[in-house]
Amino acid sequence: CGIVGYIGEQEASPILVDGLKKLEYRGYDSAGIAVYNGSCIDVMKTKGRLKDLEEKLEGRAVKGTAGIGHTRWATHGAPSDENSHPHSNGDETISVVHNGIIENYMELKEELISNGYVFLSETDTEVAVHLLDYYYKGDPIDAVIKVMNKIEGSYALGILFKDYPDQLIAVRKDSPLIVGLGKGENYIASDIPAILQYTRDVYFLEDGELAILTRDEVKIINKDKEQVDKEVFKVTWDVAAAEKGGYDHFMLKEIFEQAKVVKDTLMPRLPEDQNRIVLDDIKLSKKELENINKIYIVACGTAYYAGIVGKYLLERIARVPVVAEVASEFRYRDPVIDENTLMIVLSQSGETADTLAALRLAKQGGARVIAIVNVVGSSIAREADDILYTWAGPEIAVASTKAYSAQLAAMYLLTCHIALELGRMNEEEFKELRDELYQLPRKVNRVLNKAERIKRLADKYVNSKNVFYVGRGLDYMVSMEGSLKLKEVAYVHSEPYAAGELKHGPIALIEDTTLVVGIVTQAELYDKTVSNLKEVKARNGKVLAIAVKGNTEIEKVVDDVIYIPQTHWMFSSILANIPQQLFAYYVSTALGHDVDKPRNLAKSVTVE
Ligand code: G6P
Repeated sequence: CGIVGYIGEQEASPILVDGLKKLEYRGYDSAGIAVYNGSCIDVMKTKGRLKDLEEKLEGRAVKGTAGIGHTRWATHGAPSDENSHPHSNGDETISVVHNGIIENYMELKEELISNGYVFLSETDTEVAVHLLDYYYKGDPIDAVIKVMNKIEGSYALGILFKDYPDQLIAVRKDSPLIVGLGKGENYIASDIPAILQYTRDVYFLEDGELAILTRDEVKIINKDKEQVDKEVFKVTWDVAAAEKGGYDHFMLKEIFEQAKVVKDTLMPRLPEDQNRIVLDDIKLSKKELENINKIYIVACGTAYYAGIVGKYLLERIARVPVVAEVASEFRYRDPVIDENTLMIVLSQSGETADTLAALRLAKQGGARVIAIVNVVGSSIAREADDILYTWAGPEIAVASTKAYSAQLAAMYLLTCHIALELGRMNEEEFKELRDELYQLPRKVNRVLNKAERIKRLADKYVNSKNVFYVGRGLDYMVSMEGSLKLKEVAYVHSEPYAAGELKHGPIALIEDTTLVVGIVTQAELYDKTVSNLKEVKARNGKVLAIAVKGNTEIEKVVDDVIYIPQTHWMFSSILANIPQQLFAYYVSTALGHDVDKPRNLAKSVTVE
């Protein structure tokens, strides 16, 4: 989510809307503003994009010179008018915008309800505003500090009190928040782009600090009400670079977000004090699982390639037969579906028409459907029986990167969950995997640190005429995503191939302008794949290998190697894909293509 706030002499609402536009990359399923209009706090909010809010504001202007605004990326509660921010207390004297997740909101909500508070939304945020109301006895700062001591989790809050209309309060913990310093006006925002056209002087708020803004002054205090001296940071970036967090493109920014994404998707479901996986939105019981005799995995594009990794893991670990298929084919072959069928659909957007149609077909046939989705409240999320959200945040670049890693992480969880329920994995085995999963985000960062080297390799191989991505077993599944990425963003013809199958045809295409990317992370298949890579070398092809650290003898066979850290064989799928993403990115940019918006493609395809 993104938040902004303004207090000054100008009309607040256009400044807030403007700021939100710059933050739409942080979420775009609903938006709203709250402005003090001289007598009360006037709130305008709506489900949908910012332009929907703008239309509403054209119909009825919101007037005043102090206000807060929000653009939402749903976490708790589907996108709807009620769940949109700002949220207010019962008599609308306090208004709040929030970015983050209040983890103990359920128990706080129960307490507040027993104290007579009425909730209008399903959000965790509404707890914060009612709590403020509960603690407010005339001093807003006291109330805010009490709330900070009570809520757990992450938050950046922008707060407006009707009794103090010349003051705006902001606090943060584990969610970003900056304060913009103007002349006779001041700002708050989740991120620099929102205020960059008004000021380049900012404070970075630290965890546990409160910013108290008036028109002429910004005061920063800690929870003990002691004044904190802050240094002014001068922003020197241009507007476009700021939106991308300093990265050249959204694709690169999203690739670099993957350690966080993997962590966010895994960790809340793997509590350290419990020997189990917590999948709140999967209601499928052990008994129901035992009756399942077949699983279909259906998706499109990158999500499909995450799906085939899932097929491999589920069959090998949970020992259930799985058929994986692209959604546009699944529907038209009259698949065998009944009450004992489980379908797993994967989709970043949750709106892909082919995937949605396959889901509906499965439900008609009586199947149970689990959706692995990134967008909360999307069509697929609404229509599925059970949901496993990927917490990847909004993905802006058309070519999917961080969503794929999150989908794999979700697949690891689902595989372990099903294997545990069916008794195909014991607690000891699970503990071992869980401990390895705790290490995974750190290992993702270790691969990302190789970006410079991968850029040099991209420059070296940029003129390859044909590229094959090969591997065996799980590596073959991962190679498919690598090949798709290169096609999509670099417009270089490439094909994934089972390494052992090369010799049955495509080897005829190998010449000195052909590049073969060999994925060799699976120990028991290592020798076999390396033999296949030798066959390529013998025909003058170039070979770039992605191998596990320590397997240095491969350097004798291939032209170049990128090493990934050692991990459990399952989890190398995320790690081995990251060099593929970076390689495609750097080849694309070296060729001068529009990497964030490749020709002919769309982010979400809602036609069949
Ligand atoms: C489009 C996009 C792909 C994406 C696919 C599935 O083709 O260009 O990047 O993988 O749709 O989208 P979904 O939102 O269902 O994951």
